[in-house]
Amino acid sequence: MSSHRMISNLSLTGFMGVGKSTLGRFLANSLRYQFVDTDEMIEQRSGKPITKIFEDDGEDSFRSLEQEIVDEMVSWKRRVISTGGGLITKNNNLERLKAYSFVVCLWASPETIYHRIKRQSHRPLLQTTDPVRRIEDLLEERSVFYKQSDYMVNTDKRPLRVVAQLVTHQFHQALNHCRQTRTGG
Ligand code: S3P
Repeated sequence: MSSHRMISNLSLTGFMGVGKSTLGRFLANSLRYQFVDTDEMIEQRSGKPITKIFEDDGEDSFRSLEQEIVDEMVSWKRRVISTGGGLITKNNNLERLKAYSFVVCLWASPETIYHRIKRQSHRPLLQTTDPVRRIEDLLEERSVFYKQSDYMVNTDKRPLRVVAQLVTHQFHQALNHCRQTRTGG
């Protein structure tokens, strides 16, 4: 891990439907960190749901709102940040997220993702006639970003508690590493 990083937060990334928010709330509770969800922040600030933002203003406008939030992260401490599935794929968001946080990517197969999201309608990018194909295409396109996370964990067959343990262990190791680097230990 590079020494210029100031890890003060834990970020969760990964495709839609992999369970970032659920795990994020769980981890925030156990670490006693504040939980923040970039999608929720955007909805609160714009006063409308994400589907409506995409409909009225387009995806680019949504991405700019994500960008504004990443700009604010420099002052964040002790937060578990659940990020929208496309956030790290735009501009240099991944690099910036890594500057302020330990970045964990939750992974799942297209089948698992489809199974989890098929009854939901709040994800504009998946409102197509062939959502499985769309999931496969987007996963392929985005995996180059997801794979640059600090830690990737497959959530397909693991219960939440186990994923949380694995992530917590990795996060504490990263925090220790940063502390040692800073104190020269
Ligand atoms: C998106 C993922 C969504 C939300 C928006 C776009 C994406 O968040 O940000 O619909 O590009 O993958 P979740 O990953 O929390 O569903």
